[in-house]
Amino acid sequence: MRPQRIALVTGANQGIGFALVEGLAARLDSSDLVLLTGRDPGRVAEAVERVSGIAQVQGRVLDVTDTAAVNALAAELTAQYGGVDIVIPNAVGPLTPDRPQAEQADTFVAVANGGTHAVLRAFGPVLRPGGRLIVVASSFGTLDNLDPKLHPLFADGRSLDQIEAAVDGWLAAIHAGTAEDEGWPGWINTPSKVGQVAAVRAYAATRREADLANGTLIASVCPGLVRTRASLPWFDDFSQAREPAEAVQPILDLILTDQVDPTAYGELVRDGKVLPWLGRFAR
Ligand SMILES: NC(=O)c1ccc[n+]([C@@H]2O[C@H](COP(=O)([O-])OP(=O)(O)OC[C@H]3O[C@@H](n4cnc5c(N)ncnc54)[C@H](OP(=O)(O)O)[C@@H]3O)[C@@H](O)[C@H]2O)c1
Repeated sequence: MRPQRIALVTGANQGIGFALVEGLAARLDSSDLVLLTGRDPGRVAEAVERVSGIAQVQGRVLDVTDTAAVNALAAELTAQYGGVDIVIPNAVGPLTPDRPQAEQADTFVAVANGGTHAVLRAFGPVLRPGGRLIVVASSFGTLDNLDPKLHPLFADGRSLDQIEAAVDGWLAAIHAGTAEDEGWPGWINTPSKVGQVAAVRAYAATRREADLANGTLIASVCPGLVRTRASLPWFDDFSQAREPAEAVQPILDLILTDQVDPTAYGELVRDGKVLPWLGRFAR
């Protein structure tokens, strides 16, 4: 029998995060534990009620912008279980077309990027051998979505601290009104996703050999276009969109396979295929 597995998903009370919890609950064993986390106690409790599955599911309040809370949960799970096996930073803040994006950028980036950095730093070190740390990003996160003059900020070889500083610099440019002149895209989701994928690449590069030796996978994923609160205001055509429960299946396949494909390590994966970091600039 397998030892008990501990899984955790952030931003899991709705959308893709909720579907990931449901999928893990269905595909893990009855001795395994899935933590459904979210920022609001009422929404977390209500979501836990809606999950049916085989594994145990527990709700936990975790606001990913609260780095001390992220660190405390990692320490608590390590003390109680000796570490974690599956960690999925997935949370994203609401972004509405009704207000200027500059007004929404601080919160949006704090959740998507600050949350990802906090989870990588807190949970990466306590991921057990054979574990999975999979950031839900997007195909908007390949580097070719940015102006080439911005590429050095996120290039391979940069550290997680340097990626974080690049994201902070972009936010500062938004507030100074210089972002457009510097070449940053107007839709803040794009640099945010590039920052997430770059953060995963930077962190994964520090531990690639050890992880591949013991079957651990760190990667980012794109779920494709999925009908959720986050996507609905931004796209007109949902004819090709998937429902969350369907969209998460390839992500769960990546997580639950026993054999890690080394070509996926540190990369952005969509439907089981690696998306080249440099996109159309890739040779
Ligand atoms: N939907 C798509 O088409 C699509 C495509 C590509 C990538 N993605 C990515 O997939 C991920 C999930 O997106 P989604 O579409 O499922 O979004 P969603 O339905 O809007 O769900 C976002 C989740 O994040 C939570 N959240 C917000 N702020 C938080 C905070 N400070 N701490 C913890 N949780 C917080 C939300 O909680 P509340 O309910 O309390 O607000 C909610 O549970 C995101 O990274 C998104 O960028 C989505």
